[in-house]
Amino acid sequence: MNRVLDPIREMGGRAGFPDVRGRRLRHTEQMRAMVRETVLHPADLVYPLFITEGSGVRREVPSMPGVAQLSIDRMVEEVGTITELGIPAVLLFGLPDEKDAVGTGGYASEGIVQRATRELKARYPDLLVITDVCLCEYTDHGHCGLLQGTHVDNDGSLDLHARTAISHVESGADIVAPSNMMDGTVGAIRRSLDDRGYAGTPIMAYSAKYASGFYGPFRDAAASAPSFGDRRSYQMDPANGREALREVALDVAEGADIVMVKPALAYLDVIARVRASVDLPVAAYNVSGEYAMVKAAAANGWLDERRIVTEVLTGIKRAGADIIITYHAKEIARWLREG
Ligand code: PBG
Repeated sequence: MNRVLDPIREMGGRAGFPDVRGRRLRHTEQMRAMVRETVLHPADLVYPLFITEGSGVRREVPSMPGVAQLSIDRMVEEVGTITELGIPAVLLFGLPDEKDAVGTGGYASEGIVQRATRELKARYPDLLVITDVCLCEYTDHGHCGLLQGTHVDNDGSLDLHARTAISHVESGADIVAPSNMMDGTVGAIRRSLDDRGYAGTPIMAYSAKYASGFYGPFRDAAASAPSFGDRRSYQMDPANGREALREVALDVAEGADIVMVKPALAYLDVIARVRASVDLPVAAYNVSGEYAMVKAAAANGWLDERRIVTEVLTGIKRAGADIIITYHAKEIARWLREG
């Protein structure tokens, strides 16, 4: 069934070449721009930041050229550039000096993300500060929740994730983004926020987060690789699409305000299906490994970086993402400004 051509054929008309010519609308840039379906804006973007202790620290992440771990003072400078470029939001990840079995640094009021958030909101009140709610950066075993033996305990971890979210919001976070993939984490956070008078603070849920090899460079950047095993008992199997819709539906029922698919490029079908299944804003995380691949190919002269980044991010938006979390945010915002 072809919505356009079949009725024409039924009326005895010619429904194809030479009457129909797709190229008519492609002759000039003005014409192409007029019929363009998907246009990126800086307002669509979220820039992730890795915050480390100390001052004057800028530690480049070797597998993510252009991305660095920053101390709070350096982060403030960096965010100056980010806001000048019209990027409305940052996503904060913390690298604490000390880790323990229960991830204390994750929910400490003087934790690295909490201090960074207070500093950012003081300097840039309009900036949207989104915080990643997970324990893997703060636990000495590197898993996203509490351990019972070698098992990651679901229900026992929820309270700590809720405490983490509360401490972020008390520090001024505008949106909390639970990425730990424990069942019930969105509901637990929602209830805690509501109980403490933060009913107005939105949750961006990492709803369909896959157990992906594309997180490799991030685990260097955030020093959060699990010390044993992997995350497959809580993150999703990359083979599953329908399950993503169930995860999204559950998070919506638990009070998610924005749902996320992560990674993006190998999961564009999932983004499209999620987009079709909910009316909430959909976010996509263009993750560290996706960034590293483009950077490596561009550094070798194998790909034209500007064209590829534009094509990748446009593809993610075309698939259905309203919000794109990407390490390419600064460069694409610059290119959009140049036109
Ligand atoms: C924390 C978290 C991870 C990422 C975002 N939040 C790593 C992981 O789950 O292993 C990955 C982001 C990226 O690769 O850019 N749980």
